[in-house]
Order: sequence, then C-alpha cells, then structure tokens
Amino acid sequence: MSALTFPLLTPRLRVREFAAASHPRLFAADIAALEALYADPRVTARLPFWPRGHTATVNHVRRVVAAQQARSRRVYELVVEVRRTGAFAGVCGLVLTTPEAAVKRGHARTAELGYVLARRHWGYGYAQELVQHLLNAAWAPLGLHSVQAMVAQDHPASVAVLQSAGFVWEAGLPRFTRIRGRWWDCELYSVASAPPAPRSPRGGRLR
Ligand SMILES: CC(C)(COP(=O)(O)OP(=O)(O)OC[C@H]1O[C@@H](n2cnc3c(N)ncnc32)[C@H](O)[C@@H]1OP(=O)(O)O)[C@@H](O)C(=O)NCCC(=O)NCCS
Repeated sequence: MSALTFPLLTPRLRVREFAAASHPRLFAADIAALEALYADPRVTARLPFWPRGHTATVNHVRRVVAAQQARSRRVYELVVEVRRTGAFAGVCGLVLTTPEAAVKRGHARTAELGYVLARRHWGYGYAQELVQHLLNAAWAPLGLHSVQAMVAQDHPASVAVLQSAGFVWEAGLPRFTRIRGRWWDCELYSVASAPPAPRSPRGGRLR
C-alpha cells in the first residue's frame, strides 16, 4: 500500500493537506476557514459530528495534521479549494477503518468517506467531481476493497453525490446515534469496486 500524494487536482478543484502549525499563517487560515464552515447551520443541518467552536477546531486540526505523519496512515482529512480563485470550498476525508492486522488476516480494506462544502459552493457539481476524483485517485494506492459513507436520512443531495460515484444503498440505520439531544436516523451506502473514470464536470457550469 503506497501513500496518496497531494495536492490532488480535479478539473475545478484542488485537494490538499491541512497546513501544519510550523506554517503559522496557513495553519491559522485553515482553522479560521474550518470554523467558519461549521458555524453555518445550513452546512451542519445533516451532520451529526463536527468540531464546535475555536478550541475544538484547533485541536481537531492538530489531530488531522498529526495523522499525516502516522507510519501507517489511516486518516486523510483534506482541504478543498477552487482552483481558479484559490478560495476555500470545504473539506473531505477518507478514513481507513479496517485495522492492518485484520487486512493481513484476509479482511477487506475499507474506508469511510466524508465531504462538506461551504454553502456558497453548493449546486455546481463540485461534490460529485470531488468524490469521483478522490476515489479514483485513492483506490489503488490505498489498496481499497470498499468505501462506505454514512448519510443522515432525507439528504437527497448527498445521496445523489454518492450514486454518481457508484455507491449503492446498503442499510437503513434507525437511531444510529444520539447527538445534541436527538436521535439521528442514518443510511449506509457503499461502493465495492474501483470507480470508473470520473465524468467531466457538469455541462457548461465551470466557474
Ligand atoms: C451534500 C453536499 C456535499 C452537496 O454538494 P454539491 O456540490 O452542491 O453537490 P453537487 O452539485 O455535486 O451534486 C448534488 C446533486 O444533488 C442534487 N440535489 C441537490 N439538492 C437536491 C435535493 N434537495 N433533492 C434531490 N437532489 C438534490 C443535485 O441536482 C445534484 O445532482 P445532479 O448532478 O444529478 O443534478 C453539500 O450540500 C454539503 O456540503 N452539505 C453540507 C454537508 C453535508 O451534508 N455533507 C454530506 C454528509 S453525508
């Protein structure tokens, strides 16, 4: 299994690592962008988990950056930018969920996928472009057998994104988790073979 290399370029997006604290201005900028992303209730309406507030965000980014250096890396949480402008568009992640010892015993190597875009970047086909290219780039280098994604119920935009990358519905998970005083019903999607070559961005909507 080889590592993924960044930045990863899609036709319109740039996917890069979070900056480390040794680059204080970039580190601070990433934290500010992430905090602003999760401060928008429209963005978090269907997300059970996210770092809340400044301290939690700083600690979260520190963990993400530390994970970049892990000898057997399992966590890829990444910044998404619009190539043309350099603007922060959101974040995405792949987390390897099968322990290597289990893979050596013959278990499938599975990863969990996540993606969150800032509101002003919705509706341009960015998430589909991102997911298709990320999976395409990660599948062989990470030795993936399947990728899973958990979606809160009644989230058609996210389901459309997953289906565009070949994911299929696996199971409904009623009352999957209880967060912020309420139960979350979720749906599990997965894709179990290397994705086809990504489609080009949706007709004529290049920004
Ligand atoms: C979900 C999210 C990533 C989608 O991003 P996006 O860039 O707007 O998505 P795309 O433009 O690539 O594609 C969205 C698809 O959903 C469809 N869609 C959007 N809203 C929809 C709705 N209410 N009902 C049905 N389909 C919808 C779009 O038409 C498009 O499909 P199409 O290409 O077949 O037309 C974005 O809304 C987001 O970040 N939300 C907040 C965080 C989140 O919920 N993340 C997902 C966690 S599972």
